[in-house]
Amino acid sequence: MFITFEGIEGSGKTTQIRHLAEFLRTESHDCILTREPGGTEIGKKIRAILLDPENKDIDDLTELLLYTADRVQHIKSLIKPCLSEGKIVLCDRYADATMAYQGFARGINMELIRRLHEQMLEIVKPDLTILLDLLPETGLSRAWRRIRNGGRTGQESRFEREKLAFHEKVRAGYLELAGREPERFRVIDASQDENRVRAEIIKVVMTGVYTQHRHELRF
Ligand code: TMP
Repeated sequence: MFITFEGIEGSGKTTQIRHLAEFLRTESHDCILTREPGGTEIGKKIRAILLDPENKDIDDLTELLLYTADRVQHIKSLIKPCLSEGKIVLCDRYADATMAYQGFARGINMELIRRLHEQMLEIVKPDLTILLDLLPETGLSRAWRRIRNGGRTGQESRFEREKLAFHEKVRAGYLELAGREPERFRVIDASQDENRVRAEIIKVVMTGVYTQHRHELRF
């Protein structure tokens, strides 16, 4: 089972994906936790280029191709092998992030992004995508607080430095993607207390795991 987490900066994805991994492991599910960009050794180097605030002049297409390169490496060397071993793969951001950030917010043609994924990636679709939804003002102030108190390095702050209008487009993009595929997405209000968000996510995921088991048993 392949589960992805999406949301704007400061939406709490990283905290919540860790809570979920911990819960699944205590329930004896074999799960791995990974992220994009940077889920592989090569990907970590790509991540450093992508998030470095000094690279503010990066061309939009260069940015798109670097995210795609990170994903090709990730799918082939980690995601696919783990899924074929029957593991639950939890991924902090995936292809929807490219649609939201490079498509909706940067304005790159969505058809180009879709074709790139189709032709280069043997795309593996998530079974479930948790979208943690939040006002960009709230998310950004949380994200900067995390950078100031050392929870995240300032070396990875290129996107936090984007204007509020950029983050508003990302959020609207994510909500539109969720509206297009309601069976795959679950939108969760990330302004709620951390424990409530955790409980909602566990409920959604366990329903999915149960349904998938029943489905597998039937065939
Ligand atoms: P994060 O992993 O700490 O959330 O940082 C990753 C940043 O990269 C975040 O600002 C969103 C951005 N991003 C894209 O613009 N496109 C993508 O395809 C992905 C995976 C992330």
